[in-house]
Amino acid sequence: MNIVIVGIGMIGARHVACFGRAGHRITTVDRKEGADHDRVADVPARSDVDAWVVATPTATHLAVVSEILRCQPNARILLEKPACYPAELGDLVDLVRRHPRARIVVNDVYAHSRVVRRFAESVHRAAAGDPIRKITIEFTKNRVLDIANGRFVDTQYGEAGYECFHMLSILRAILPAGHYERYLRTNPALVTPEMRVRTAVPELPEVELYTSSGGAIGFAGLAGFAFSASTAKRYLARSIIPFSAELRYRFADVELVSGKHVTLVFEPSYGVAADYKNEHTVHVRDAGSQQRVTVSGNHFEEALLAQLDFLCGADEGTAVLRLAEHRLMAALGLTAATGSFAWPVEPELQVGLPGNGEELARFGSA
Ligand SMILES: NC(=O)c1ccc[n+]([C@@H]2O[C@H](COP(=O)([O-])OP(=O)(O)OC[C@H]3O[C@@H](n4cnc5c(N)ncnc54)[C@H](O)[C@@H]3O)[C@@H](O)[C@H]2O)c1
Repeated sequence: MNIVIVGIGMIGARHVACFGRAGHRITTVDRKEGADHDRVADVPARSDVDAWVVATPTATHLAVVSEILRCQPNARILLEKPACYPAELGDLVDLVRRHPRARIVVNDVYAHSRVVRRFAESVHRAAAGDPIRKITIEFTKNRVLDIANGRFVDTQYGEAGYECFHMLSILRAILPAGHYERYLRTNPALVTPEMRVRTAVPELPEVELYTSSGGAIGFAGLAGFAFSASTAKRYLARSIIPFSAELRYRFADVELVSGKHVTLVFEPSYGVAADYKNEHTVHVRDAGSQQRVTVSGNHFEEALLAQLDFLCGADEGTAVLRLAEHRLMAALGLTAATGSFAWPVEPELQVGLPGNGEELARFGSA
C-alpha cells in the first residue's frame, strides 16, 4: 500500500519503521530535512494514497487533517492522539461531517493490545461472582529530559494529554460499556496536578488513575513485585524514577472484594532482558496462590497494523475519534490549570459533541 506519513519526529519515525517493515511504500512529509516533501499539497498522485498518518504536534492536527481532506476527500487517516486540542474538537467534528467519505481513526494503541485483551479476560473470569472493589491504573515515567527538549509539553490537556488516553483504553477494556460511559461523564472525587484522578460513585468500582511525567511513583506496592532488576527495585523502594532513567512504571490492578488481585504489568523485565519493552505480564494473586502469564510482542506496531486493516475495511464515513475521552481529558487539563474540576465550556463540548454511545452509532467503532 501507499502510505504517507506526515510528521517524522519521535512517533512518526516509529510509524515509518513499522509500516516500512510490513512492506508498504512510504512517503514522508515534514518541514525538516530528510523528508520526501515539505507539505501535504506537494505529495504527487494523492488520489493513489491508500492511507495517511498524522504524527505532527497536537497543535497542528486539525490543520493537517484539513489539508489532507482538501487533497483527498475520501482519505483514510490514522491520527495520532490526542486528536486535537480541546477548543478545536467541535471544528474537527464539523470537518469530519463535511467529508462524509473520509475514514478517520485516532491511534488507540492499548485498544488493540493483546496483553490488555488477555488481562481483561482474566479480570472478567475472576470477577464472575467476586465483584471488583477498586481499579488502579498508573503510567509513570521521568520525562524531565524530554520536557527540557520541548517534547511532552501539552499546554491544553496538561499532564492528562500524555497517558490518560491510554489509561482510559485499559479501563474501557475492563468495565462493562454502560459503566465506562458513566465513568466518562462522572465528576471525579479528586484530581491532583501530578495527576491523580479518583472517582467513587455508587454502582461503579472505585477507580484511581495516576500518572506522573516527573517520575514520582504513586503505587509501588501494587506492581513492584513484578520487577526483578535491582535498579528497578531501588527506584520502587524510593518511589521515584530518577532523571534520564528509562524505566516506565505502567500497570493496571483490579482488586476484587475477596482481596484477590488481577494485575497487568508492562515491561517488568526492565534491566534484565534486552527486549524488555516487548514483554508484559498478567498476574492473578490471592493469599494462597499466584499465577503469571507473559505476553510478548510489540503492541505499538501490532496496533498500527490492526488499525491500518480497520481503516482499509471501514465504510466511508467511519470516524473513531473517542470524543468523550477527549472531553474528560480536557476537563482534567482545565482542573490542573484552575484548581477546581469543571467540564469544558465550549458549546460543542457541552451539547453538540456526540458522547461515546452516540459516537459509536454515528461514527462507527474500532
Ligand atoms: N500514540 C502514542 O503513544 C504517542 C506517543 C507520543 C506522542 N504521540 C503524539 O504524536 C504526535 C507527535 O509527537 P512527537 O513526540 O513525535 O513530536 P515530535 O516533535 O517529535 O515530532 C513532530 C514532527 O512533526 C513535524 N511537523 C510539525 N508541523 C508539521 C507540519 N505542519 N507538517 C509536517 N510536519 C510537521 C516536526 O518537524 C517534527 O518532525 C503528538 O500529537 C503526540 O501527542 C503519541
